[in-house]
Amino acid sequence: MKVKLAESRGFCFGVEDAIELAESTLGGMAEKGPGKLVALGPIIHNRQVVERLEAAGLNQSGDLETVPEGTNILIRSHGAPPETFQKARKRNLNVVDATCVLVKRAQNVVRQLHQDGYQVVMIGDQDHPEVEGVIGYAPDVIVVDENSDLDQALARRPRLGVVAQTTLAPEYVANMIARICNRNFKEIRIVNTLCLEVVRRQEAAVALCSEVDVVFVLGGLHSANTRELARLCTERGVDTYHLETWDQFRPEMVVGKPVAGVTAGASTPDSIISAFVEKLEAFEP
Ligand code: F3S
Repeated sequence: MKVKLAESRGFCFGVEDAIELAESTLGGMAEKGPGKLVALGPIIHNRQVVERLEAAGLNQSGDLETVPEGTNILIRSHGAPPETFQKARKRNLNVVDATCVLVKRAQNVVRQLHQDGYQVVMIGDQDHPEVEGVIGYAPDVIVVDENSDLDQALARRPRLGVVAQTTLAPEYVANMIARICNRNFKEIRIVNTLCLEVVRRQEAAVALCSEVDVVFVLGGLHSANTRELARLCTERGVDTYHLETWDQFRPEMVVGKPVAGVTAGASTPDSIISAFVEKLEAFEP
């Protein structure tokens, strides 16, 4: 069948750098073996890459309190709150910091806004590891999303400093900012912390929707930016399937749909995309 690819898709530089750092750290270790490099959670929502790194000695379910002294701890591209670095230092752990530069910037912005006297507000998902890390850089950061009662969450706060989770869609953030501006705050300082890599993938996915009959969004089912791509495509009224690999493809997904579009989240390697596209092109509905 005919397949069109989104112009911007797949791995972002932040994830690529984190994987490279993990690989070079593992490769440079004198002593090899499982658990030589420990991450405090999945470094990427992609099974294939994870399996490769685990085979090279990465343990992705480390616990800061229990890992042995001297262990190499990998901070993921999502970053971590300052307490994680302090605890690691106290326990004589060796920190390998793969925090994405854009997440680092968001952390610095939050710290600065607080120092400048603003009540910091972060638009995002409070359970996302990036948000959990960023809000650690100032006390009492208020996290809001579309379900928040803003009157209650932001009551009696005259000066707001607003940032957003890097992977959110600009429309979503703009809408949240409009809702905040709609209230009686004397001063609101907004700092744009959105990631352009993600924005480009979102724009490309939306553009693709107007050229195809069905869209496949490839990426980990838990990956926030991949889910956002799928949400945007669904919102455009195109049949959208969020899949991890070709194994989840079903022929009925393309019945009566001559042209398929393919895009992928920021943690989806090229190898997954090209294998999927090759099989889809060879598929006869
Ligand atoms: Fe960084 Fe953007 Fe990727 S924030 S980790 S470059 S999605």
